[in-house]
Amino acid sequence: MIKPCNSIITGTGAALPDQVITNRDLEEMVETNNEWIVSRTGIRERRKLEAGLSNADLSERAAREALSRAGVDPAELDMILVATVTPDHHTPSTSCILQARLEAFKAGAMDISAGCTGFIYALSVAHQFIYSGAYRKVLVVGVEILTRFTDWEDRSTCVLFGDGAGAVVVEAATEESRGIIDYTLKSDGRGARLLYVPAGGSALPASHETVSNRMHYLVMNGNEIFKFAVKVVENTLFELLQKVNGKPEELDMIILHQANLRIIDHIRKHLRLPPEKFPVNIDRLGNTSSATIPIAMHEEIMAGRLKEGDLVAMVAFGAGLTWGGVLMRW
Ligand code: ACO
Repeated sequence: MIKPCNSIITGTGAALPDQVITNRDLEEMVETNNEWIVSRTGIRERRKLEAGLSNADLSERAAREALSRAGVDPAELDMILVATVTPDHHTPSTSCILQARLEAFKAGAMDISAGCTGFIYALSVAHQFIYSGAYRKVLVVGVEILTRFTDWEDRSTCVLFGDGAGAVVVEAATEESRGIIDYTLKSDGRGARLLYVPAGGSALPASHETVSNRMHYLVMNGNEIFKFAVKVVENTLFELLQKVNGKPEELDMIILHQANLRIIDHIRKHLRLPPEKFPVNIDRLGNTSSATIPIAMHEEIMAGRLKEGDLVAMVAFGAGLTWGGVLMRW
């Protein structure tokens, strides 16, 4: 499915909570240590949203920055997509709450749940809306408040996750040389139990028992996810490159989901590419799930490292299982 580049990202934004949780802080909470966390994950600290604030608060901050950088008034938006697995409520969607706050009253709004691949799914949906000619301006937010679903007594998961939001404005482009070139979205529900929250849904509604058994927190088989990630990230990159008959070295930047620095390093070494091509924020932010890629994109733009004309691949993987990627000419 090769087509002209016709939807471009015109503005980016990010929002992070102020509270920093260091590895030393975690040493006080569970039996762990800084050396283990850094050597196994690359994480040194992560952010935690303060009590009283929610997903919609971080989403709004990131969205307002992206809209302002794009020079787009919220009233012009045709659609708002929020990629998240940690919404404010089961219903209504966080995107509707955001729509009201932004007073984007022309826009439709929906959340997209695809684990850590959520932003890639949402960006692809935005692109399709624009490519089909249905819409001209779409706001996409990748946001998670994972610390609210983290078991702070489980050392195998509580060291990994953090809170954050990233947002982009996607618009119909006049120039054809820039924009989203193609995407790939995949899933394998046979791995649903490798990373999930056991209770709180219709399968096992909240009860005194589920709460006392700590069943409302993320449970993860880290080793299996690690093996799956290494395999699908590289396959996805090659699938994207095939669509333009490209080679890995032709990519100017590869923005990978930030789940573990060892996964990023493994891919980089295997492809024999320099570290400058692989943005990293997991060291400072931990795994912010749907937010890792839009935050990284925003940071690279602000630092002047992501430039017009760059060929960029973004690849993510996560709960579902899901995985996917987007190839674009910045
Ligand atoms: N501190 C100290 N020791 C620990 C900790 C900790 N925080 N956590 C686990 N350990 C111990 C284990 O108990 C185990 O001890 P044992 O050998 O005595 O049994 C030992 O360390 C090794 O544990 P492993 O789980 O084998 O460690 P591994 O090197 O595989 O690292 C990790 C675990 C970091 C979770 C890794 O598997 C990983 O990153 N997996 C991918 C996770 C991922 O990507 N998740 C996100 C998906 S995206 C989404 O949708 C949210």
